[in-house]
Amino acid sequence: MSGRVVLVTGGASGIGRAVAEAFAAAGDRVAVADVDGAAAERVAAELDGVAVTMDVTDQASVVAGVAEVADRLGPVEVLVNNAGVVAGGGLLVDLPVEVLDTVLAVNVRGTFTVTQAVATQMIETGRGGSIVNISSIGARQPTAGMGHYEATKAAVDAITRTGALELAEHGIRVNAVAPGPVHTPLTAGLMEDPRARAAWESRIPLRKIAQTADVTPLVLFLASAAAGHITGAVVQVDGGQLLV
Ligand SMILES: NC(=O)c1ccc[n+]([C@@H]2O[C@H](COP(=O)([O-])OP(=O)(O)OC[C@H]3O[C@@H](n4cnc5c(N)ncnc54)[C@H](O)[C@@H]3O)[C@@H](O)[C@H]2O)c1
Repeated sequence: MSGRVVLVTGGASGIGRAVAEAFAAAGDRVAVADVDGAAAERVAAELDGVAVTMDVTDQASVVAGVAEVADRLGPVEVLVNNAGVVAGGGLLVDLPVEVLDTVLAVNVRGTFTVTQAVATQMIETGRGGSIVNISSIGARQPTAGMGHYEATKAAVDAITRTGALELAEHGIRVNAVAPGPVHTPLTAGLMEDPRARAAWESRIPLRKIAQTADVTPLVLFLASAAAGHITGAVVQVDGGQLLV
């Protein structure tokens, strides 16, 4: 069988779905892992890939899901840690702590445990690999009301750097892509509100909210052999938003 085995978490929607489609179009064998198993099945069927019902907040579900991918496709060679939520919003003084717990569980615990399970498998297999985490420019640029989410993405950046350092000796590279706002189901409500959308666009020097297709090429590049000397990098795709 040709192509690499690629595992995309949160692959049933938005950026994850577009990433899964792009790998499949490049000839890779893709596992679409998502807590929404039915949606994962639909996407996997379109890609001729496999669907895995996986809740990244649940370590047992993660370990079982990674083992299932190995059984059905072979050991994972590329992992994209994309599953993420915002879960709400609010100023630090107002935010219910349950919202913080939810976002920490998916974005931080999830990225950590999936990395642990897949990197362990990659080390055992001995053929190296590549991990790409989906962060956010929010890790580096604050927006009022988004502090809970931004803290989780700063943690994702830290996991990226530690992973790169610790896994280098095993030939495993770890990088992250940090988008600015992107049109996906996650942001659909915001984008439909003309004032909210204009407010976001006004912060972007290129004056355009990204489409998923603006983000996917960098994910594929970082996962590819052409990026063989790049590890521990967090690269923004933000129309210049971090400049202002
Ligand atoms: N859309 C944006 O503007 C934007 C910007 C920067 C970063 N991001 C990041 O990109 C990633 C994808 O976002 P999106 O906009 O495509 O969101 P989305 O809501 O369209 O898709 C997220 C997917 O993750 C899945 N998911 C949620 N919780 C899960 C869990 N516990 N286990 C497994 N899967 C789970 C959902 O079912 C869904 O399929 C997230 O990490 C998000 O933080 C998005």
